[in-house]
Amino acid sequence: MNKFKSFVFFLVLTIHSSVFAGEGMWLPQLLKALNEGDMQTMGMKITADDIYSLNHGSLKDAVVHFGGFCTAEIISPYGLLLTNHHCGFASIQEHTTIEKNLIKDGYWAKNYIDELPNKGLFVTFIDRIEDVSSLVLNDVADGMTMQERQSKIDKNISELRKTYTFEKYQDVMIRPFFAGNQYFAFFTATYTDIRLVGTPPESIGKFGADTDNWEWPRHTGDFSMFRIYAGKNNLPAEYSSENVPYNPKHFLPISMSGVEEGDFTMIFGFPGRTDEYLPSPAVDQVMHDLNPAKIKIRDTSLKIMDKYMRQFEVTKIKYAAKYATIANAWKKWIGESQGLEATNALEKKRKFEEEFTKRAGDNDNYNTLLQRFQFLYSDIKETAVVRDYYSEITLRNVDLLRYMSGIRKLVSVYEKNGETGYVIARDKQLSQLPDFFDDFDRAIDWEVAGKLFEIYCQEIPTQYQPKLFSKDSLKAYNNDFVKLAQSLYKASAFSLMANTEKLLKMPTSEAIAAIKSDPFYVFTDNWQNVINEEISPVYDYYRKQIDSCQSIYMKAQMELFPEKKFFPDANSTLRVSYGKVEGFKPKGKDRYEPHTYLDGVIAKYKPGDYEFDLPTKLITLNKEKNFGKYADHTGQVPVCFLGSNHTTGGNSGSPAIDAYGNLVGLNFDRVWEGTMSDINYDPSICRNIMVDARYILFIIDKFAGATNLINEMKLVYPKTK
Ligand code: ARG
Ligand code: GLU
Repeated sequence: MNKFKSFVFFLVLTIHSSVFAGEGMWLPQLLKALNEGDMQTMGMKITADDIYSLNHGSLKDAVVHFGGFCTAEIISPYGLLLTNHHCGFASIQEHTTIEKNLIKDGYWAKNYIDELPNKGLFVTFIDRIEDVSSLVLNDVADGMTMQERQSKIDKNISELRKTYTFEKYQDVMIRPFFAGNQYFAFFTATYTDIRLVGTPPESIGKFGADTDNWEWPRHTGDFSMFRIYAGKNNLPAEYSSENVPYNPKHFLPISMSGVEEGDFTMIFGFPGRTDEYLPSPAVDQVMHDLNPAKIKIRDTSLKIMDKYMRQFEVTKIKYAAKYATIANAWKKWIGESQGLEATNALEKKRKFEEEFTKRAGDNDNYNTLLQRFQFLYSDIKETAVVRDYYSEITLRNVDLLRYMSGIRKLVSVYEKNGETGYVIARDKQLSQLPDFFDDFDRAIDWEVAGKLFEIYCQEIPTQYQPKLFSKDSLKAYNNDFVKLAQSLYKASAFSLMANTEKLLKMPTSEAIAAIKSDPFYVFTDNWQNVINEEISPVYDYYRKQIDSCQSIYMKAQMELFPEKKFFPDANSTLRVSYGKVEGFKPKGKDRYEPHTYLDGVIAKYKPGDYEFDLPTKLITLNKEKNFGKYADHTGQVPVCFLGSNHTTGGNSGSPAIDAYGNLVGLNFDRVWEGTMSDINYDPSICRNIMVDARYILFIIDKFAGATNLINEMKLVYPKTK
């Protein structure tokens, strides 16, 4: 009997701890109450107060939201920032010319003067976080309709905002958590003078490119460096040559000891979006309807781009960034669907729902929820699928269609705000023309457009088709959609920069008339109207009801499963994830060992290849074993490592921090098998991928000779302490 009891206890313990191995993206100000014990049991030597404190510099003061889409961290007393190469890429590209090719050759500023300003780039600090739930949800009652509820909340938020006073560089973001059951306010300070300091050549920073993206074993030195500049008072200031390097409240020391399998790690950053608490019909829809639709579109456009990129060097340069962006989510969705399948996510959700139903008992607010979800997801399916096809085609995969949405906005600005509003918007369009057309190839674009129109026509019911796809109009092109697209492009002013410019420079009323009679405009306007009239109202109607149910369902889960520790879904706010350095055994493959080394980089070397070429200098350093102090105890230079930290898009550039609060790596990816962690984290296969800090230092020091940067950092040896 006793033995049985202790076995049950053991079982409960192991189930309990395996549930928490790595899962969760936690709010830093709640770590003390919710996670500190857990973290210290896993090996953390510092306290929650060292991570987030309002009274003294803490880890959070070294972590910033980079440009609103990535994370970066401060690694010197002079505001030196580390983030990923793919996060800094737009800036690197911006400073690249044929003569001075930063993408190809890398760049290392030898002094402050050489550091390159970036218009529009900013970083945001979180000064403090407050729970404002009771204020935001004040007078929000259970029986309210979704609309009543939302308008009350909006009113409360705007009242609340009025009570805060700010400097120009400060702001507050008030965000919903747990599907609107809690609200937190994030008080921010934003710096706008951010300069590019250094980047390795892309043959290191993007080594393995799309082939290796989302894969393990990995050998990418995915980092770049920036610096925060401030006014003389250390506060944010517009760019000025008088500005000085920012002096941070805290910066991360860098560990030269690294981490071993089993060691504690945490990731601090701004994860973008997860959906961990969906009901099974929602997950089913992602797996079987929405992901396949989006994957199909991207399969097609990627194949066409790839064909031309392999043929023409110019195209490769023009399309590299576009291709990488489209391929990134495409590959993620494929992995996500397969991972959900492989881990029986649906089955698990349904089991959970059985238990939920049992516990909900005769609570009328809760016991009909799951059935309502069934109906609602089946009702929303058709419009959700059309919506995804439409936005994939018009906003992500066909350049000219995306561009036309800007032109359509011009017309609506003119119609709403008259001439003055129009002129401002038009001048902005004109100034951005070169950005768009420099990377645009109309023949590739119309081929992509034609093939995607064809897919839309095949997959989507006729009542949701634009007129142009009708049998009659297709006859003129022998039912060849590419021919149709080509003739449309050729007839339109908008497929060439010179014609677009000429049109936009016409006097307002003439320009508006010319836009409105342009065949490409007419086509996109018609398609958009079909979506606005037939799809959006139906979709929005069901979406609102789903959101409302999800909000109740979230509350119910938290009430009915008090033994479970809930973390809020990612929403681009500051979070801490923690786990361990950990490999795993994928199905049908050898175990993924958690570390890779420089010799693995060399083993992948393919001279002249656009993904796997390497700089000669790196090969020489390796041959001569000229590793400086950056080899680990095995005598090799570590390159990347795996951990069980729960991360998602937006966590790129996040610091990987060891038990002592030192930087040991830079997060940049996840393993493909585990990308379903956005919907259903599974500790057996979800792993994040980090570059080892010692590889970064090795590249800066031995490869680039940028000892000026090494000298401003603080290198520590915690394991020999
Ligand atoms: N998969 C990583 C992320 O989601 C890296 C993307 C950039 N690299 C690339 N080859 N596309 O952002
Ligand atoms: N590469 C991703 C990013 O840009 C991080 C990887 C992930 O999705 O986990 O944020």
